[in-house]
Amino acid sequence: MALWNAVASRLARQRSWTAGVGSSRALSSWWHSVEPAPKDPILGVTEAFLADPSPDKVNVGVGAYRDDNGKPVVLECVREAERRIAGSMNMEYLPMGGSVKMVEETLKLAYGDNSEFIKDKRVAAVQALSGTGACRLFAEFQKRFRPESQIYIPVPTWSNHHNIWRDAQVPQRTYHYYHAESRGLDFASLMDDVKNAPSGSFFLLHACAHNPTGVDPSEEQWREISQQFKAKGHFALFDMAYQGFASGDPERDAKSIRIFLEDGHFIGIAQSYAKNMGLYGQRVGCLSVLCEDEKQAVAVKSQLQMIARPMYSNPPVHGALIVSTILGDPELKQLWLKEVKGMADRIIGMRTALRENLENLGSSLSWKHITEQIGMFCYSGMTPEQVDRLTKEFHIYMTRNGRISMAGVTTGNVRYLANAIHVVTEST
Ligand SMILES: Cc1ncc(COP(=O)(O)O)c(C=O)c1O
Repeated sequence: MALWNAVASRLARQRSWTAGVGSSRALSSWWHSVEPAPKDPILGVTEAFLADPSPDKVNVGVGAYRDDNGKPVVLECVREAERRIAGSMNMEYLPMGGSVKMVEETLKLAYGDNSEFIKDKRVAAVQALSGTGACRLFAEFQKRFRPESQIYIPVPTWSNHHNIWRDAQVPQRTYHYYHAESRGLDFASLMDDVKNAPSGSFFLLHACAHNPTGVDPSEEQWREISQQFKAKGHFALFDMAYQGFASGDPERDAKSIRIFLEDGHFIGIAQSYAKNMGLYGQRVGCLSVLCEDEKQAVAVKSQLQMIARPMYSNPPVHGALIVSTILGDPELKQLWLKEVKGMADRIIGMRTALRENLENLGSSLSWKHITEQIGMFCYSGMTPEQVDRLTKEFHIYMTRNGRISMAGVTTGNVRYLANAIHVVTEST
């Protein structure tokens, strides 16, 4: 009897505990202190655009390429690669470091087809979850192996850079980059910051088509930056999210990196196929670190894999297969190069059209920076208040820093956009 009573009271205790856990009060109490996260400044723009029922609405906020009808584009080389891949592969895991073939081809784009560093196996490289994942992996690696270091980030920069190094708990410093008055590069202040940073500092550099400003150093300026980095023993991490989008030629757009390589720097590179192959949602990219020798490269690669393993184990296979199929086939690669140039040329054409329209409207302001800046973005110089008016009165959506994604400008909306910009910039 005593035993039965003990069992019964234990069962009762269990039942009331389970009921407590199952009640809505107990469930909701786990997360009662969680406040909604602030909206991402870039992704929030798209949400607001989608919610706007106006037929006139224009989205020049998001950094994704659109054709002249404002539609997302899948490149023909990608479609052809998909046809070739379809049904031919299994769905096994990739190794932790990702597709060896994709990484090999990706390194050639950054370091050069005949790079001695690749031949000597001095580049530690892993497939990454696009450019964001490559930056995040590097930030973790930096924290783990140079825990005392900081990262110097340009002002302004792609806003996610701040989140990435914050989450990796690497302290952030900034360096001058954009000169608001000239809407160009603040080269003198940039060089001062490089000079004044403690020797052996880590710097994040945009390899080309700087986001959000569209302002890149000239070749000569890159040479000077590289020399100053050498004098100070700084480390350069190149974020190359737009290779091919600046000039239309991926080889030309890698110039900054090649200059640093010629000068003997041990650099890191984050590469992405989101923009230049239109593989946004496939999340395919690469992180590489140039090492002193093969032995060091093997060690570094193994540590990068160790960081990836508990985060996502191994990267996705499909996008990597598309990339390696395109770049591994001379004909498909040619088609890709032609299509990248086509995207860059359309954007350059829209820059000319936007500037001409503003000038024809009799704007009292100078808009020459629209055609001087390069890549996907135009840093217009508009104030947050002017951007708010564009949205409220004209249903035009962009980030409040005045960044116009030129990829969203079309022959169909460029006059409307120019007129709206003219109205808000002349009357405030
Ligand atoms: C400067 C820069 N770096 C990295 C990225 C990362 O893009 P993704 O992760 O889609 O490759 C972007 C995307 O907008 C970018 O502008």
